[in-house]
Amino acid sequence: MNTREPLRVAVLVSGTGTNLQALIDTVHGHEAQIVGVASSAPGARALERAASAGIETAVFERVAHESRQARDAALGQWLREREVELIVLAGYMELLSADFVRAFAGAIINVHPSLLPAFPGLRAIEQALEYGVRVFGVTVHFVDEGTDSGPVILQEPLALADPGTAAEVLGALRPLEHRLLPDAVRLIARGRLSPDPANPRRIRIAPAP
Ligand code: GRF
Repeated sequence: MNTREPLRVAVLVSGTGTNLQALIDTVHGHEAQIVGVASSAPGARALERAASAGIETAVFERVAHESRQARDAALGQWLREREVELIVLAGYMELLSADFVRAFAGAIINVHPSLLPAFPGLRAIEQALEYGVRVFGVTVHFVDEGTDSGPVILQEPLALADPGTAAEVLGALRPLEHRLLPDAVRLIARGRLSPDPANPRRIRIAPAP
């Protein structure tokens, strides 16, 4: 029996929020409690999804603050007030300052539409298409101070012999994202992840009890 309290999660978004929706539909109210959704953009569809699920929302626009650091200080304060234990970046299109990443070290994860370390950063699928790969994929990883460079939690490939457009590849990757991100949150909520002491880049997954 799982006697743990649900993990207090905040989700940072900028856009449509289909990954947020996947979290709401799976882990929210079970292993995890999404206690807040913060958007970098006021009109993000993700905010409507959060509101429909009765989740508190906030907007932290870069232009409303003096600097990225100032915005992240306000965001960090908002997260601390809500006693957030895990921050999930789900289509969050802003760079977080190094201070913010250090303050929440080991407690930020991201979903990225490539098999890292291939194609980090923006336009990952376009990069992969330009390179001509036939195997695409999704990575869920811890966030460090680099660009999509933190330790890998979960990864899954998708072979596409005739990939088509970036939109078509994204469509094909969506189901993987929507499964892997909740799976990663579940693993963290159940305390099943730990860094390998011999090489902390390698994340060990404890077997299910
Ligand atoms: C996803 O493709 C994710 O991998 C990337 O941004 C996109 C967000 O989509 N980081 P959504 O807003 O969750 O629908």
